[in-house]
Amino acid sequence: MGNEQLARDCDYKNAVFVLATVIEIVLRAGDMQMKQFGKSFKIDKKSSIDLVTDVDLSVEKMFRDIIQERFPEHGILSEEFGERIAPGASELGASSASGCCWVFDPIDGTTNFAHGLPFFCSSLSFEIDGRPEVAAVYEPIRKELFVAERGKGASLNGRPLKVSQSTTLIDSLLCTGFPYDVHTSREELVGLFGHFLGRARAVRRLGSAALDLCYVAAGRLDGFWEQRLRAWDISAGSLIVEESGGQVTDLQGEVFSSRTGNVVASNGRIHETLIKTIQEFMSKSK
Ligand code: IPD
Ligand code: CA
Ligand code: CA
Repeated sequence: MGNEQLARDCDYKNAVFVLATVIEIVLRAGDMQMKQFGKSFKIDKKSSIDLVTDVDLSVEKMFRDIIQERFPEHGILSEEFGERIAPGASELGASSASGCCWVFDPIDGTTNFAHGLPFFCSSLSFEIDGRPEVAAVYEPIRKELFVAERGKGASLNGRPLKVSQSTTLIDSLLCTGFPYDVHTSREELVGLFGHFLGRARAVRRLGSAALDLCYVAAGRLDGFWEQRLRAWDISAGSLIVEESGGQVTDLQGEVFSSRTGNVVASNGRIHETLIKTIQEFMSKSK
């Protein structure tokens, strides 16, 4: 079965089922997170500062069991247990963005979760050929469910989402994040942070890229940038921003792909300025 056939198969004869599954999984993930949040659970290190808890693993298992049962022919790309290549998809598999693929982060904001800091979520998108078509992010502390369907808009707990109105950096609240190899490129990352500090109303680092994107979609933040993320951090959130009237690109202002891991998201109005500011800093620091 070729990619075209695969894409047709998961085309929207299944739309309602896909949407229901995306929402069911993130809500179940939220319940599982809340049962453990603030209690004791096992924490392991994937690297010196990259954590994984028992809860990440059990949430991801719940997700994989559901997709295996309902969509056994689809690909999976998720953080803790890697990818499952859809039968008939390109041999390069889900990370190459071909065919129908479910992209899942069981806890985005694991460091926050592990420290009892209440800012984390689960994030799931259903992609066709690397493009998110349906997405949901659920933040269980405030019980906020962000949902988007391509071409149909985005919502927060059922109410339509809309990006902010700000047109200048000095009137903008920005946000960023640092990848787990921050120790190796501290100067560059903090340098860019500082470059924006001098130009924006304020800059935040909240600790969940998926929620940062949803906050841009909701108009709580005006812009967000981050480098070296993974598809599961940003696939769902990128669609939620776009469907809220915002803009999502890479750091050069070119077409966004979750697989590159680099993202700039905004209300659209400040997008060009964000890109210019990033490029200005990067060319100076070369
Ligand atoms: C992390 C968060 C964080 C971002 C990191 C991500 P995780 O994901 O999204 O905000 O700065 O780059 O890796 O590890 O909590 O799923
Ligand atoms: Ca993540
Ligand atoms: Ca995670």
